[in-house]
Amino acid sequence: MTSLFAGIQDAPLDPIMRLFEAFNADTRPGKLNLAIGVYTDADGKVPRLRAVQEAEKRWIDKALPKTYRPIEGTKPFRDAVQALLFGAGAPILSQNRAATLQSVGGTGALKIGADVLAKLKPGATVAVSDPTWENHRALFTQAGFTVADYPYFSAETGGVDYPAMRKALEALPAGSIVVLHACCHNPTGADLTDEEWAELVPLMQTRGLIPFLDIAYQGFGFGLDEDAAPVRLFAQSGQEFFVASSFSKSFSLYGERVGALTIVAADPAMRAKVEALAKRLVRASYSNPHTHGAAIVETVLTDPALRADWEKELGQMRERIKEMRVRMADSLHQRHPDRGFEAIKVQKGMFSYTGLSPDEAVRLRDEHEVYALETGRVCVAALNTHNIDRVLDAIDASVKG
Ligand code: LMR
Repeated sequence: MTSLFAGIQDAPLDPIMRLFEAFNADTRPGKLNLAIGVYTDADGKVPRLRAVQEAEKRWIDKALPKTYRPIEGTKPFRDAVQALLFGAGAPILSQNRAATLQSVGGTGALKIGADVLAKLKPGATVAVSDPTWENHRALFTQAGFTVADYPYFSAETGGVDYPAMRKALEALPAGSIVVLHACCHNPTGADLTDEEWAELVPLMQTRGLIPFLDIAYQGFGFGLDEDAAPVRLFAQSGQEFFVASSFSKSFSLYGERVGALTIVAADPAMRAKVEALAKRLVRASYSNPHTHGAAIVETVLTDPALRADWEKELGQMRERIKEMRVRMADSLHQRHPDRGFEAIKVQKGMFSYTGLSPDEAVRLRDEHEVYALETGRVCVAALNTHNIDRVLDAIDASVKG
């Protein structure tokens, strides 16, 4: 009998998940995972944030019935997400132009957004940065789009090649969808400057391009408000756009899959139409979102004391990553001044594009038990004072061959 499944083409998982599985199967005691974007604290543990623990305790104590959650999530959750994105009291909040739906992590937000766009713009090109998060390409391809690259990272400077990016975006046909990382670019850590954003936002509008902002690391760059500045510029411009938020990292709630899709429309009538479409697509995908993780995020964001404590701990995570960046950049630059390692210091968020070659990354993993992506992406947020010297020596040895 020929199996139904015989025709399935063999294809690997994306490198992040492939290495995640390889890491879990690795029995070497000193193994260290710098390949996945997970923040670990000074002791190498995924933190349980104080505010999150308290919110969870309160939620459990309430022992509420576990009924269905609204398809779009609760109003306090959605309002809190919008305030986080646009700033409390921002005009767009009262204009009623933005629809927010709770999603299954940031990936779920991208997925539902992609499905909405597939209904509205079938056949459009989706342009993603070169490089981008591994899953962007797969996700939009899966939704039926052709995915193209726009130039982004400059290996020479370790920053963004903005002139090349702008030129490529200017050449895209109107109606193309452009995926932008609002802050803490994954995988490079290289962000646009304020001036570049100020130029890019009107360019997107005049060229008729559809912005899809991915904001998975709000709070890990400069701060919650600063990191959302590009989202706020788009809101002020009056154009229609999409935003995928993730709370996995900022609340250290990876496994709870809390995220949100926000779609900004031209006016309340268009908002209502696109919100209804997104709800129909959610209903036909997984019906309703989960309760637990979103209830925790909602409680933290809406309780002033818990919110203040969360912001404090988030700030500490941000500062700790910066300290690790400085140590890593200084030490590697001193050892290999010709490799451009000093850019690690100015890059933002959880990742850096170190410039390690695939061979060097393989040596790092095979000979030193340190997992990095073969693109050279390293999760700086998994370094701490106990493991950093070992990692730096391992990188040094891998570079020397
Ligand atoms: C990453 O880039 O490592 C994270 O966003 C985890 C993931 O889902 O890929």
